Amino acid sequence: MEHIKNDIVVSGMRPTGRLHLGNYFGALRNFVELQNKYKCYFFVADLHALTTAAENTENLAFNSKQMVIDWLAAGLDPEKCSIFVQSHIPEISELTTLLGMITPLGWLLRNPTYKEQLNELFRKKYAGQEDKIAAEKMAMLTEAELSEMSSFGFLGYPVLMATDILIHKAAYVPVGQDQTAHMEIARDTARRFNDIYDTDILVEPKPLFTSIPKVPGLDGRKMSKSYGNTIELGEEPEAVRKKVMSMFTDPNKQKANDPANPDGCTVFAFHKIYNPDFEKRAQECRAGALGCVACKKHLFELMEKEITEFNQRRDFYAKDEALLKKILSRGAEAARESASKTLAEVKKVMKVL
Ligand code: ADP
Ligand code: TRP
Repeated sequence: MEHIKNDIVVSGMRPTGRLHLGNYFGALRNFVELQNKYKCYFFVADLHALTTAAENTENLAFNSKQMVIDWLAAGLDPEKCSIFVQSHIPEISELTTLLGMITPLGWLLRNPTYKEQLNELFRKKYAGQEDKIAAEKMAMLTEAELSEMSSFGFLGYPVLMATDILIHKAAYVPVGQDQTAHMEIARDTARRFNDIYDTDILVEPKPLFTSIPKVPGLDGRKMSKSYGNTIELGEEPEAVRKKVMSMFTDPNKQKANDPANPDGCTVFAFHKIYNPDFEKRAQECRAGALGCVACKKHLFELMEKEITEFNQRRDFYAKDEALLKKILSRGAEAARESASKTLAEVKKVMKVL
């Protein structure tokens, strides 16, 4: 397919569980728009999932498939973009090895995501205990203990991610703001490679953020699998209705006709997404003209049609195993063609025989 712009877009998501509305409004919806303008490569980052779950892989293949089904149901069109699984592109692993040779260890050790994610892993290990206790234990860990919990692959996460992007010479990478540090490493890697080998073959990529960089979860914190506060893509409408009815609202509003503040209210954050008339709703809320129960019911009505239609499209793709296989194999073919060109160029300038 012909694209309006020649620039290349690359992005991936880790198949660590089902996608949720935060992933959809924070990233996936952007993928769907970008496929109409740019040459796009979207992939299931299964190797990245392994960096934290190598001992627990029974759901990896299943989650990878579910992710692709969600992407298709959300509107990614394999005629417009390449959809593939990261591990199907061996060139990525090869280029990761080569780029690893020029990545200073300090960049990886200083990467803020490294410590944050270790913290996350550590909390899982102490699941059931208070976060505070886990955080305290974390703070007391020595460097040596931390390094026992982490792997070579985990520390190298940013090298693999830089490779995903640089291997296609992407100009833009649609991600959430939590990926800023990784994007910086990808840019630094391209620059360092080009400097060392006095070349211009690698392209410095720029992150692209969406207009909704932080979708709140049911409890008002950022929606995230690790907080258990999500609405997943593909959930039954009745389950979503129950979740909407349990969303946090302004705690100062006691009675239905108390005036309240919509800013910071989770239900209102979703009205902003689903309700074209959300400004009117903000006024009604401030004036105490509407109770939270009615406001939640209205929100669910607005969401229901979209959810039902999404689930129908999802069922369609979920049934067609052969179609999924075909999409992923065509995607891998396109990605390998692009990846092998860059890999060959890199080997040439590195003088690898
Ligand atoms: P999770 O926090 O649930 O594990 P991931 O880290 O796998 O989600 O995120 C995948 C993509 O979705 C990333 O680009 C991330 O920035 C984006 N994303 C995740 N949660 C949200 C959210 N609540 N709001 C906006 N974007 C999000
Ligand atoms: N690190 C990203 C995340 O956690 C996933 C990812 C892996 C990615 N490789 C990438 C995103 C390349 C963009 C480009 O969400």
